[in-house]
Amino acid sequence: MSTKRILSGIQPTSDSFHLGNYLGALKQWVELQDGNDAFYCIVDLHALTGDIDPTLLRKRILTSAAQLIALGISPEKSTLFVQSHVAEHNQLGWIMECIAGFGEANRMTQFKDKSAKGGADSARVGLFTYPMLQAADILLYQAHYVPVGEDQRQHIELTRDLATRFNSRFGETFRIPEGHILKSGAKIYDLQEPTNKMSKSSGSAAGVLEIMDTPEANIKKIKSATTDAGREVTFDEKEKPGISNLLTIHSALSGESISNLENQFAGKGYGDFKSAVAEVVVEYLRPIRERALELLQDEAHLVKVLHGGADKARSVASATVADTYKNLGLVL
Ligand code: AMP
Ligand code: TRP
Repeated sequence: MSTKRILSGIQPTSDSFHLGNYLGALKQWVELQDGNDAFYCIVDLHALTGDIDPTLLRKRILTSAAQLIALGISPEKSTLFVQSHVAEHNQLGWIMECIAGFGEANRMTQFKDKSAKGGADSARVGLFTYPMLQAADILLYQAHYVPVGEDQRQHIELTRDLATRFNSRFGETFRIPEGHILKSGAKIYDLQEPTNKMSKSSGSAAGVLEIMDTPEANIKKIKSATTDAGREVTFDEKEKPGISNLLTIHSALSGESISNLENQFAGKGYGDFKSAVAEVVVEYLRPIRERALELLQDEAHLVKVLHGGADKARSVASATVADTYKNLGLVL
């Protein structure tokens, strides 16, 4: 099997990643490092399309990096970097804006959803051009596969369309990437409202388990998770979304099958089961949180590691920009 180039990105828009991010995406990033040439990017420029708080942004970029390393992204095995450290993203982003049609950009559902929230007139231009910057992120690295959640499918399609159009008009320049839609196996729901996705933007803080939360806070959240009528610990997403969610979480972290867990907790109450889930979650996250806090103690070292990643990324990205410019007729 030949090594494949992988690229993915995550926005530094929260103080902590949550268990949904981890089980739905980041755990698979860690697995994909082996046997592939993986590039993982903290997309800070994309984060500028939301509210900008400079102090918070800086903190969140560093905390995101620390968490990614702590949860297993190895700066030796893969290329871990910050988008704004590699200016080629902006360079190719502009080219993509000049390739994309206004109409096709206007069909992006993420833009429609996000701009509808604050009223379309107050939406910023960067939110509109977001997908063209994302296309640049991917095409710069000639990625074969782009591991993302289902919600990003449309952006990957746009990236493929732009790359195909560019190649046919200006000559072979970009590899046409494929989405690698992450297994939905571990979709995690809000602990308080177990029919909603666990998400930092919706639902209550009490329903979201964060990597950087203290063990005490997470124990409390699990113990006060919404449970369902009845008292059997059985997996039934329709009738028992709360207990089913806790079973999914336990199983994903402990590696035990759901049916094993059902047997283990047969005849025991919800209370015992929640204590067991809390134990599994807290012990799983404890070393990750501790390692992240340790990395944040030495900011200069962390930034140095990220600069090292950016150097590796730039050596690939600059070659793509040079090709692109040449094929467009720009004088190098
Ligand atoms: P977000 O920050 O919400 O854009 O999510 C970043 C990544 O985490 C995406 O790849 C999502 O698909 C994944 N993700 C977010 N929330 C969940 C969840 N509750 N369950 C599973 N995966 C999730
Ligand atoms: N738009 C992606 C998200 O919201 C983040 C992202 C930016 C990304 N650039 C990317 C993902 C490139 C994959 C590849 O999740």
